[in-house]
Parts: sequence; C-alpha cells; structure tokens
Amino acid sequence: MYTPYKHEPFTDFTIESNRQKFKEALEKVNSLLGKDYDLVIGGERITTEEKIVSINPANKEQVIGRVSKANQELAEKAMQAAAEAYKTWRYWDPEARAGILFRAAAIVRRRKHEFSALLVKEAGKPWKEADADTAEAIDFMEYYARQMIELAKGKPVQSREGERNQYIYTPMGVTVVIPPWNFPFAIMCGTTVAPIVTGNTVVLKPASNTPVIAAWFVDVLEQAGLPKGVVNYVPGSGSEVGDYLVDHPLTALISFTGSRDVGLRIFERAAKVHPGQYHLKRVIAEMGGKDTVVVDKDCDIELAAQSIFTSAFGFAGQKCSAGSRAVVHEDVYDQVLNRVIEITEQQIVGDPENYETYMGPVIDQKSFDKIMEYIEIGKKEGRIVSGGKGDASKGYFIEPTIIADLDPKSVIQQEEIFGPVVGFTKFKTFDEALEIANNTEYGLTGALITNNREHIERAKREFHVGNLYFNRNCTGAIVGYHPFGGFKMSGTDSKAGGPDYLILHMQAKTISEML
Ligand code: NAD
Ligand code: ALA
Repeated sequence: MYTPYKHEPFTDFTIESNRQKFKEALEKVNSLLGKDYDLVIGGERITTEEKIVSINPANKEQVIGRVSKANQELAEKAMQAAAEAYKTWRYWDPEARAGILFRAAAIVRRRKHEFSALLVKEAGKPWKEADADTAEAIDFMEYYARQMIELAKGKPVQSREGERNQYIYTPMGVTVVIPPWNFPFAIMCGTTVAPIVTGNTVVLKPASNTPVIAAWFVDVLEQAGLPKGVVNYVPGSGSEVGDYLVDHPLTALISFTGSRDVGLRIFERAAKVHPGQYHLKRVIAEMGGKDTVVVDKDCDIELAAQSIFTSAFGFAGQKCSAGSRAVVHEDVYDQVLNRVIEITEQQIVGDPENYETYMGPVIDQKSFDKIMEYIEIGKKEGRIVSGGKGDASKGYFIEPTIIADLDPKSVIQQEEIFGPVVGFTKFKTFDEALEIANNTEYGLTGALITNNREHIERAKREFHVGNLYFNRNCTGAIVGYHPFGGFKMSGTDSKAGGPDYLILHMQAKTISEML
C-alpha cells in the first residue's frame, strides 16, 4: 500500500536554518557552473562539437552549462533508441514503472534545494518560485505514479452470460516531449514522467534556455533505475530538431507546452501522415494565456490588491497563468489601483540569488526587447503609473510595470506579454466584466474577487477559462488539487496534475472473450 498523495510542502524561508541550507545549495551549484553536458541516447552519452550555452539571465556573463546540441541525424538515433526501448518497456509491470517515479521523487526530495538553486541560476527564479517549481516536479512524480497503479486495474465494463469483457489501457509508443523554459523543472518533469509511467518511451527536447536542469533530471531517472532508451535527451533547435521529431513517422504522441504560435505549428504538422506511418498522431498542446483578475464592487480591497499583485508579478509575470489584466469595478478602481502600486513599489527587483529579492530578471534578450516594446505601446494606449524601465546591461531586468486606464480591446489587454506588466481596465456592470474577461482568444486562468455569491455562481457558468479561482490569485495551481489546462487558444485542456491526464497518453482496449 502507498500513502495517500499529498502535495510537497513549500519551504518556510522565514526560518533561518532553511535559509542557511538554501545558501549552501546555491554555493554548491555555483561550484558546478560551466560544466559540459552530453546528449543521452539509448543510455549512451554523446558529445557534439556544437553546444547550446545556458546562461544566467541575471548575469549574462555567467555560463550555467554547455550542452551538446543534437542535429537531425542524432534526433533520428534518439527516435530509433526510443522505438527499440518501447518493445520491452511497454510490457513492464505498471507498478514497477511507478516504482521508478517514486524513487526519482525521493532522490529529488533529498536534493531539493540543489535543484531549486539551479533554477535560481538558470531561469532567474527567486527562491520561493524555484522552491515551488521543484515541489511541483516532485508532486507530478508522486501523483502520476499512484494514478498509474490505479489505472492498471482497468475500468469496469459489463459482461453478459457466456462472455467476459475487459476494458484496459495500453501505451501508445514513442512520445516527443517539448517543454517550455518557464517551469523548467516541473513541466519538463511532468510531461516526461506521464508518458513513461504509462509505458511509452520519450524523446525529450528541452527548452534551449534551460537545458541543464533537464540534464540533471535525466541523471536522476537513471539513478532511479530507468532502463536505457526509455528517455532520450536531445537538446536542439526548435525549428531543426523540433520539426524533425514532430514529423517523424514513429512519433505516436507529442506533448508540447509553450507558445501559441509554436503549438499551432506542431498541431498542424502532426496532422500530416508521412510514409511508413500507420497511425494518427495525438497532440497535447498547452499554450499561452491572457489571464484576468476581475475585482467586483463588493470585495475585500486588500485581498483584491494582493491578488492582482501576486498574479501579475510572480516570476516576473513569466507564467502562462499570470494575471496580466486587472478588470476592476469603477467604484473601487482608484482604491485598488493605488494599493497595487503601493505594494509593488515596496518590492526588491534584482539578483534572485539574494533571499530578499521579490522579482528577478526576464529570461533573455529576445523577451526583454519584446516586453519593452509592449511597454512603449502601453505608454500610448494607457497611463504608466508604476515602473516602465528596463536595464539589460548585466542581466535582463525590467521594473514591474502597471498601466492604467486601458481599453479592453487594446493591444496590452489582448496579447500575451509574458513579462512583468499588468494592465488595468474599468467596468460598470458585472455583465460587462464577464464580457471583458472572455474577450481574448485565450482561456487559461482567471480570478474573481467578490463578496457577491450570485456573481460567483454566474462566473462559474460564464467565465470561460480552464482554471477559475475565487478570492485568490490566478497562479499557483497545485498538482492533484487544481488540475491545470486551458480553453480556446490556450490549448487542448489536458489538465496536467489531474485525474484524466494519464489517459491522454494511452489507448483504451476492449477485450471480449466467449466463455
Ligand atoms: P516556445 O513556444 O517558444 O517554446 C516551447 C518549446 O518549443 C521549446 O522547447 C522550444 O525549443 C520548442 N520549439 C520551438 N520551435 C519549435 C518547433 N518548430 N517545433 C518543435 N518545437 C519547437 O515557448 P516558451 O517561450 O518556451 O514558453 C513560453 C510560452 O509557454 C508562453 O506562451 C506560455 O504561456 C506558455 N506556457 C504554457 C503553459 C500551459 O500549461 N498552458 C505552461 C507554461 C508555459
Ligand atoms: N501551473 C502553473 C500555475 O498555475 C502554471 O501558475
């Protein structure tokens, strides 16, 4: 028997001894910087001349690691290794597959702060955000392992006299896993372990900004006893290696998390049947968001301000779930806006290696430039009431920026900025609030801050997002508690960390035997 699933607790950094342990982990990670990492294909370590160089976004001179870079030939080798490993891995006892996840979770838990410290350095996550990312990775392993053990029992179907019927789940084949850089441990881990625990094999192409954390995780899986070839680690360019893997006739399932544009490209390409392919590919595509915090007239003002602030600026707004739109009733608009400005201006922006830092850098020059362009647009469309400046001289730092008085159809209120920018829009009636909340192409998360029960019930029916929260922020879904995934152009609503997720990696088989 396994203990019931419970999510991994977050570290309490107000306790001095916890802060001390985290500092030691940072020192250890600092001593490991600049190392080379190989590809792992069929268990074999492969070094290439060409490298992806992972850097610290808070200090772009600092190299986190140099990672070998796959080309199409190596991607082909990885596909073949995964296809070979699938022949035996698919028949492993599901409980033994789950056992590998339990062991991997235990290894990560023992070295938890080291993984989080690496996230501070490689992704620019402040301590609390890094700690939550590692906790979520552990949760995915613990949750999916238990779920597989349950799924292996199959689901009940009726049998008639003289006939025995069964309904079981079988794996699909080689899965191409393409994660983003913004939850470089949690999402990379969750989207890798879900296909393997269900009996598929994986070709993992990590995000190019954060390949080192993925290399560390592949090591953990090996230590936990994962057979060679079940997970193949092939960092490479999205357009060269990504397209090749997506198009490959052996690819059965693609698990993608990332931007809308890349998601749509994958979705379209996966629909084409290539010579030698005898199946339709399945695509899980979790994409962007333009998420709204609605603040009603009758509400707790402090809660509203804190919820907007946390939703907008956690990890510098670089979450698909980030509340980048505050839609506030005209009667409380000024009060809420002023309080959000006040809270925001008390925060420390800087190197995430310091415990006191609330917000670190954005991920790279491309993101920095894009976000600064949006801020310029914001100056024309609305009123910058806080922040607005950026400095990319050492790392990619942008002030938390608040733009007031925006039209709900403005560029700032429609497009995913993916940075520390929140736009404010006023509404008069609750009908109008819901209309605005639903008026983008996305439908990922949303929150309503209200004391009005009737409005809560209406929002449950009419606020069209995959994850809807009341009287709290719209970020921070917990595995097993808040299954996560979006509507509309936010993706296929696969609900990571939810009860139906593993089934998306399997095909159901009906077996009927005459007695
Ligand atoms: P991205 O789309 O640029 O990249 C995601 C992954 O796709 C990376 O590994 C990248 O190398 C790869 N890629 C790029 N081109 C490819 C191609 N042609 N074929 C195959 N793979 C290719 O996204 P990103 O910048 O890494 O992440 C940010 C985006 O991810 C935001 O839009 C955010 O909202 C979204 N996101 C969504 C969720 C969710 O659960 N809905 C979670 C996290 C992030
Ligand atoms: N699952 C992450 C959140 O809810 C993206 O913030």
